[in-house]
Amino acid sequence: MTHKICLLPGDGIGPEVIDCAEQVLRALPLDLDFICAEIGFGAYVQFGTPLPDSTLDKIRLSSAALFGAVTTPPNLPGYFSPVVRMRQALDLYANLRPCRSIPHESSRRNIDLIIVRENTEGLYSGIERLEDDGNRAITERVITRKGSERILRKAFDLARQTNRTSVHVVHKANVLRQTCGLFRSVALEVAKEYSEITLHEMLVDTCAMELVRAPEQFEVIVTTNLFGDILSDEACMFVGGLGVAASGNIGVNAAVFEPVHGSAPNLVGTGKANPLATFLAAAMMLDYLNETESAERLRNAVNNCIANTESTPDLGGSLTTSQVAERVIQRL
Ligand code: NAI
Ligand code: MG
Repeated sequence: MTHKICLLPGDGIGPEVIDCAEQVLRALPLDLDFICAEIGFGAYVQFGTPLPDSTLDKIRLSSAALFGAVTTPPNLPGYFSPVVRMRQALDLYANLRPCRSIPHESSRRNIDLIIVRENTEGLYSGIERLEDDGNRAITERVITRKGSERILRKAFDLARQTNRTSVHVVHKANVLRQTCGLFRSVALEVAKEYSEITLHEMLVDTCAMELVRAPEQFEVIVTTNLFGDILSDEACMFVGGLGVAASGNIGVNAAVFEPVHGSAPNLVGTGKANPLATFLAAAMMLDYLNETESAERLRNAVNNCIANTESTPDLGGSLTTSQVAERVIQRL
């Protein structure tokens, strides 16, 4: 089966890591058809918008998209985040952030958890206002039954598919009685349909602490938008950090996979950008496309490179971005 892949290189090191990922994907025994689309500050300079409609159309027409990174220009009036806009426009409601131990001295052992973050509502509703002559600022935290139900189902389905036996539902319902209260009660309802999976409730502050104390206790964490944003950045630091952290944004009709890092302007053209996070995002994309064998092959090749210090300087190696890609291809 042919999969149509939309590549979104973006700005900074984005084009460098996406180019390497394309080479790696082409080295797998898969029938892939690549198209490219514009996003980011470069697109703004060229087309007057960081997210042209043609880009959204290309993603909609593809089986999945692989995105690099964008640069946010400071103080540009009217500029908007193309990443947030893309997630909203395509209703990419589930943000998946796997955190798995890597064979590297800096990584903690026995961690294999996935954070499932609601990606469209919560405190990032975008509903904000100033009152009292600018002396009172208000953001509305919007939690809906529909939004909660679909993210909770995604988390429990994922646990089931990956043979995990527990899901931690993370909230702060003791204080945020209405918003987290609704999220919590939907969680208790949804969990009834998954009798083989144990639901654990945890308050978000406790979760932040437990992630540092004993991260290996978690299998799946599901939570609202802001909590998930913070906890997922926290968790990735135990297992290699930004050079290997990957994520997926999944909706009903579209999915965009990306490394967690930004455009790293300090690394552009130096060959020091670690492409492995993008390769691991590509592996998540292959899982999504049901190409699980190729996904596993790619992850194994990445881990073999890490274990043999065939890596960029952030993981202690001395290879360049494209040399790492060559080694991964050799190990496929
Ligand atoms: P960043 O993630 O670009 O860089 C943070 C630090 O990590 C830097 O020291 C950088 O050199 C290092 N780093 C990042 N990616 C790396 C890689 N692949 N290999 C090795 N080291 C790596 O975040 P920063 O510096 O806060 O932001 C830079 C630009 O990226 C800003 O314009 C920001 O708005 C944008 N950004 C974009 C994101 C996206 O496109 N999803 C996410 C985060 C930031
Ligand atoms: Mg973030």
